[in-house]
Amino acid sequence: MTDVDARPQQARSQASRQDTGEYAYQRGFGNEFASEAVAGALPAGRNSPQRAPLGLFAEQLSGTAFTQPRAVNRRTWVYRIMPSAAHPSFARIGNGSLRATPFDEIEPDPNRLRWNALPVPGKDTDFVDGLYTMAGNGDLRTRNGIAVHMYAANRSMTDRYFVDSDGELLFVPERGAITLRTELGPLAVAPGEIAVVPRGIRFAVELPDGDKGGDEGLARGYLCENFGAAFTLPERGPIGANGLANERDFLAPSAAYQDRAGTVQVVQKFGGNLWAADYDHSPLDVVGWHGNYAPYKYDTASFMVIGTISFDHPDPSIFTVLTSPSELPGLANADFVIFPPRWLVGEDTFRPPWYHRNIMSEFMGLVRGVYDAKAEGFEPGGASLHNTFASHGPDAETYQRASTAELRPQKIDGTLAFMFESRWMLVPTRQAMEAAHRQRDYDAVWAGLTRSFRG
Ligand code: FE2
Repeated sequence: MTDVDARPQQARSQASRQDTGEYAYQRGFGNEFASEAVAGALPAGRNSPQRAPLGLFAEQLSGTAFTQPRAVNRRTWVYRIMPSAAHPSFARIGNGSLRATPFDEIEPDPNRLRWNALPVPGKDTDFVDGLYTMAGNGDLRTRNGIAVHMYAANRSMTDRYFVDSDGELLFVPERGAITLRTELGPLAVAPGEIAVVPRGIRFAVELPDGDKGGDEGLARGYLCENFGAAFTLPERGPIGANGLANERDFLAPSAAYQDRAGTVQVVQKFGGNLWAADYDHSPLDVVGWHGNYAPYKYDTASFMVIGTISFDHPDPSIFTVLTSPSELPGLANADFVIFPPRWLVGEDTFRPPWYHRNIMSEFMGLVRGVYDAKAEGFEPGGASLHNTFASHGPDAETYQRASTAELRPQKIDGTLAFMFESRWMLVPTRQAMEAAHRQRDYDAVWAGLTRSFRG
């Protein structure tokens, strides 16, 4: 790589903004953001003047159809050094461990499934090389369903960029911070935070700790690739105007650009496959932008947790951070649900999740700590899949403890579990079913349950 422009890149935002860590961010969810890395990059009063400012090219990026209602319409205007049309043909490259719809490599399996953490890569692996698909559903060609991937990387993407034309990507880091260097600016994302990159926005994943090597240099986490309607905030109903994930806690990037010459590779996920093209410039060359189609990040510690203050364990929908709605009210294409630190105070209540069978399918992961329905075996970086109507709930040890515990106020602390929940069956990939890190004895966690019926 040559000719990297090292000029300091000022971020001057016209929206409310807060400096958080290394980068300046703009606050809000789905706002009309505006940001300039160089003063004057945004034209005044119109989107596409005869000549865009500073010799830049104006370009619109539409995340929704032009005519969708204002409440869901998402588009952003970017002012860039080269129009994104300036590139040669894409050609197919190998998909590695990435899989896509239709998820039909194996028959759907009614069994409860659980995995240990994805093994640490043994060789130099960047984010794209480290993608590993666990399960999925729906049809990316008609834009419904999700894919669940893991990533494990030990080096930054250098001279390489990625763009997903099939779905938006929800990042849930479990080990190691990552920097998402996106077309609209950088987002620093650490475990405990999550980030979303909308479909069609180019980015590179950098590992700020990658040069430490070994376990310290590892970046690992979960990805929900959402083929359906973009994630948004759930309605609050009787909760009122505040609580759960509040709009003000979401952070969008401020403009920052790369003005560089030399060959870089842009890898595109399109139609379920990876394609690549060699560009002669960085695709992250946006000097200013305005609009509401933008990546964002969110710290799960900001989530205002709702729970019982009387009795019973409420449905986990109270823990929904983001939802991808379907055409049917209340029926999500996908929900992103977290189980963060919280107080349990319910009286005469079995406090962990009850035993249940749901029509919705649940893929769970653990960022840190211990999940309150499983005493052991569900490790950080691991995963479980409880599909449509799979019977599940607390393991025998948790049941025994929770059904006999003295019910004092109890803080569940130092933990963060989460769920990707989907309206459709999640079909695992063949590699996930055959993986050495799948726990083939998972059913045994319920084997210790015994009868206590006194009828
Ligand atoms: Fe469940």
